[in-house]
Amino acid sequence: MQAKFEPTIIILSAGNGERMQSFIPKVLHKISSQSIIEYVINLGISLNINSNHTHIVINSELENNKIFQKLDEKYKLNKIVQKERLGTGDAVKTACNNIGSLNDLVLILYGDTPFVKKETILNMHDKIKAGSDLCIIGFNSNNPKGYGRIISDEQSKISEIIEEKEANPKQKEIKLCNSGIILTKKEALCDFLDKHSSSEYNLNHEFYLTDIVKYLNLKQKNCTYITAEENEVIGINNRHQLIAAEKYNQSIIVDRLLSSGVTIINPETSYFANGINIQKDVVIYPNVFIGNNTSIESNSIIHSFSHIEGADIKHASIIGPFARIRPKTKIGKNSKIGNFVEVKNSDLMNNVKAGHLSYIGDVTISDNVNIGAGTVFCNYDGKNKHHSFVGEKVFIGSNSSIISPVKIDSKSTIAAGSVITKDVEKDALAVARSKQINLKNKSKIS
Ligand code: UD1
Ligand code: CA
Repeated sequence: MQAKFEPTIIILSAGNGERMQSFIPKVLHKISSQSIIEYVINLGISLNINSNHTHIVINSELENNKIFQKLDEKYKLNKIVQKERLGTGDAVKTACNNIGSLNDLVLILYGDTPFVKKETILNMHDKIKAGSDLCIIGFNSNNPKGYGRIISDEQSKISEIIEEKEANPKQKEIKLCNSGIILTKKEALCDFLDKHSSSEYNLNHEFYLTDIVKYLNLKQKNCTYITAEENEVIGINNRHQLIAAEKYNQSIIVDRLLSSGVTIINPETSYFANGINIQKDVVIYPNVFIGNNTSIESNSIIHSFSHIEGADIKHASIIGPFARIRPKTKIGKNSKIGNFVEVKNSDLMNNVKAGHLSYIGDVTISDNVNIGAGTVFCNYDGKNKHHSFVGEKVFIGSNSSIISPVKIDSKSTIAAGSVITKDVEKDALAVARSKQINLKNKSKIS
């Protein structure tokens, strides 16, 4: 039986992220509504590696960041703090000094490199099984500026990685770049780390992990590389790369949705968060935003300029144009939410119609309810939010204000223009507006 692939994983995320020009730590910037680091954490999970074997090197800024602390709660991360930014080699050394014992293989991932595929990691493992002591992922780039360059021969053996800062003009012409991702035998890594003390750090006062290749070559060890598409291993250092990564990931999500039977009429104009779930035969018109935690069941139609986030939209519903569906909303099947309707934290059951200009917040709405244009559920009294209930087949006339909390029981009707402050019983007609008076000949029009 094949030995299980279970390397120790070390994710490097303690850099300063200076090139991002941001108050937010680099790895917490978002791509398709998910933080960069979360992609990397999920890669470890997809490899089926026990989380005890995954470690993340962070700095104190990240350690004290609330968003990171939430991720930590979610994924129960093994954190190691690198006190000073002394380079990728120092980060790995700090990790190794803190991890009790390493597994036979060590996989080093960069927290700023989110799209590496599981298959590519397994390809690196094949190289190790075939006799390499270390394997890295390389990529060819027409614009290699900023990346370390790989010095190799035809057999994909590598002798050295030269960082951009140290490269001479000839080396700068090399298009084969280092992605930073390394799979190495434990002994090879430990040997390299032990031989380097901080006094040997280079002129920039950094200890480069990439120097491991030259070192292992001196020891007659076998270093190889495999290649991946540039997009797969893009490292995000600045806003330009962040936007390039976003563009690439949108194309991946759109591809996945199209392949699973979703029609997206003009994908370039719409935006999709990473973890969304959209079923087949949903049609998405141009200019739609679909944010985190959204699921849309089959045969639903999302019309243009709709903004949907954190919603669960059931079968064959029609949303928009110009609808806003906010988090914690469920829209039951065959429902219709039309233009300029906002729904928040509400549970709409089946066949509910709210065609125009309404605010539906903190409400439970039963089957077959019709909500007239201009209906507002007044859920907030300035201090607290209140919840209302609307029973089956209720008809709410246009321009009504429902002052929550109230219970509007089934098959009742609310007359247009009403301000409802009290519960309405079953089958009743509630009229809550001032009477009209017509004053004869008082009109001023001549
Ligand atoms: C690094 C590689 C370069 C490669 C490129 C690919 C080195 C020396 N250079 O350059 O060969 O082409 O990635 O994207 O490795 N980090 C720490 N502690 C530190 C320094 C960095 O944890 O002291 C982390 C960063 O948070 C980041 C990763 O290591 O996630 C890489 O560091 P970064 O500064 O982004 O390296 P690059 O200049 O991109
Ligand atoms: Ca980087």
